[in-house]
Amino acid sequence: MENNKIAEIKNKFLEEISRAQNEKELYEVKVKFVGRQGELTQILKSLKDLPPEERKRVGSFANEARRVMEAAYEKRKKELTEQIDWKKEQIDVTLPGKKVEVGRLHLITLVYREIEKIFSAMGFEVVEGPELETDWYNFTALNFPFDHPARDMQDTFWLIPFQAKPKKTLEKDEAALSFSIESIKNRKNFEKEIKSSKEKLVLRTHTSAVQVRYMEKNKPPFRVIIPGRVFRNEATDAKHEHTLHQFEVLVVGDEINVGHFKYIAQEFFSAFFEKETKIRLRPSYFPFTEPSFEFDISCAICSGKGCSTCKNAGWLEIGGAGMVNQNVFVAAGYPRNRYQGFAWGFGIERLAMMKYKIDDIRWFESGDLRFIRQF
Ligand code: FA5
Repeated sequence: MENNKIAEIKNKFLEEISRAQNEKELYEVKVKFVGRQGELTQILKSLKDLPPEERKRVGSFANEARRVMEAAYEKRKKELTEQIDWKKEQIDVTLPGKKVEVGRLHLITLVYREIEKIFSAMGFEVVEGPELETDWYNFTALNFPFDHPARDMQDTFWLIPFQAKPKKTLEKDEAALSFSIESIKNRKNFEKEIKSSKEKLVLRTHTSAVQVRYMEKNKPPFRVIIPGRVFRNEATDAKHEHTLHQFEVLVVGDEINVGHFKYIAQEFFSAFFEKETKIRLRPSYFPFTEPSFEFDISCAICSGKGCSTCKNAGWLEIGGAGMVNQNVFVAAGYPRNRYQGFAWGFGIERLAMMKYKIDDIRWFESGDLRFIRQF
């Protein structure tokens, strides 16, 4: 009985190894029959239960079968080894390895980090806000009257009303109603306009939109920077993009003044350009600052001597700034005339273009690896 079984296993083994086409398949057959759980191994393990005479007879039959199987295995292995085309298998270990592509940070991210590092060292907190914003935070709370031409200063991507379903509007109805923009508070439809302003959605046009959001939740004194992506509905050229990055600086306290602004701006630009930089203010207008100014820095390329970058002026136009308009504090829920603060904002691309001598702003959003890999 046992002998028949052993013979059957042996024949199956011989047949299967003759079919094996490579060493791996051959090894699998070996495991199947003579491995720890193999068919022949199981029979050998059960020998101990047989009477002594029987054990001797079956044992020697099984050992003979195993010897035949092992010899056949070695023979087949040799055959398979001889079939290998060693020339094809040869590896030239001196060839250079395959280069692994490693990702890198975009220049905008690198500049963000540089800016954050400089301001963090001066004790500033980094704050963020949503890119999809309400008309309220982007315009109305920043003292842009509904029908004031100042709204046209920034061309805007509006969202179609039926797509916009804000969960909660008018969180601060009372503050909204007491919010006194002189030119509109007596208008008949003032309440309606405020409500609509809190529902209308816009791709934010500037990081100033985060000012009131932050102030609603924080009491002065504070100093924050607000980096972020903003959107403008305008034709692009070498200096203008529809999608760009800005950063905002907001410092509020009891006695913050323009001198503080000038000092911090000077410190920041000198650290960023790694050379002493001067600041120049020019009168300007923003609804959310009073007084407002545009500010220039001494040309980072020629240090003010005059070159092609600054068109021989020695100065470069950098951004807008001013003392926070008291109407903005009121919109945030602060008492009028209780605090003073300054705000400024400028484009990160334009700053990076100066530092890294980039001639066209459109490179940033192009996704062109030749550009990205340079930094
Ligand atoms: C503003 O956006 C104001 N929020 C700045 C501000 C903040 C003023 C706080 C007062 C207080 P303006 O529209 O000028 O202002 O834009 C500021 C900067 O963003 C510009 O100086 C420029 O560097 C950059 N910028 C604006 N539009 C574009 C554009 N289309 N492409 C590239 N950079 C732009």
